[in-house]
Amino acid sequence: MGKAQCGTCHFAPLFNGLIPPFYALTEFEIIGATATDDLLNPVKDQDNGRMDVRATPYYEAAFKTPTVRNAAVTGPYMHNGAFTTLEKVIDFYDKGGGGGLGLDIPRQTLSTRPLNLTDQEKQDIIAFMHALTDKI
Ligand code: HEC
Repeated sequence: MGKAQCGTCHFAPLFNGLIPPFYALTEFEIIGATATDDLLNPVKDQDNGRMDVRATPYYEAAFKTPTVRNAAVTGPYMHNGAFTTLEKVIDFYDKGGGGGLGLDIPRQTLSTRPLNLTDQEKQDIIAFMHALTDKI
């Protein structure tokens, strides 16, 4: 909810794209998830996302915002499973997503500005996601 702004897309309390206050419609966002988890040599993912279903450039590489509830036990992450750890997911966001990594992501809805999270802040966000794991 603070510096990392995750909650601007993953809305509480479900932490997915269902939009408050009615939680009836879901958002689709463009974050530029990479084809592999190599963030030093990022490769653009070729999946057109929602544009294959609704043929408008507005939806190019747009994906439904999934919940982060139980994310600690439901890897790998993103539509293509490119990231195997939550640490990698945070590093991806910290760098401003695909656009922030230097890829050509038209209409990225995630800010491309680096978050500049400290190691402690990254660990805190990961700990929070672990706290969203259901008890069996
Ligand atoms: C601009 C909107 C947006 C913001 C801001 C955002 N996310 Fe996401 N998040 C998404 C979308 C869309 C996906 C799915 C992307 C895909 O499938 O390629 C996603 C996927 C994820 C996933 C993978 C879930 C899964 O099951 O695969 C995790 C974990 C996650 N986000 C955590 C975070 C965290 C932590 C932050 C803050 C640092 C954050 N998100 C900020 C939109 C956003």
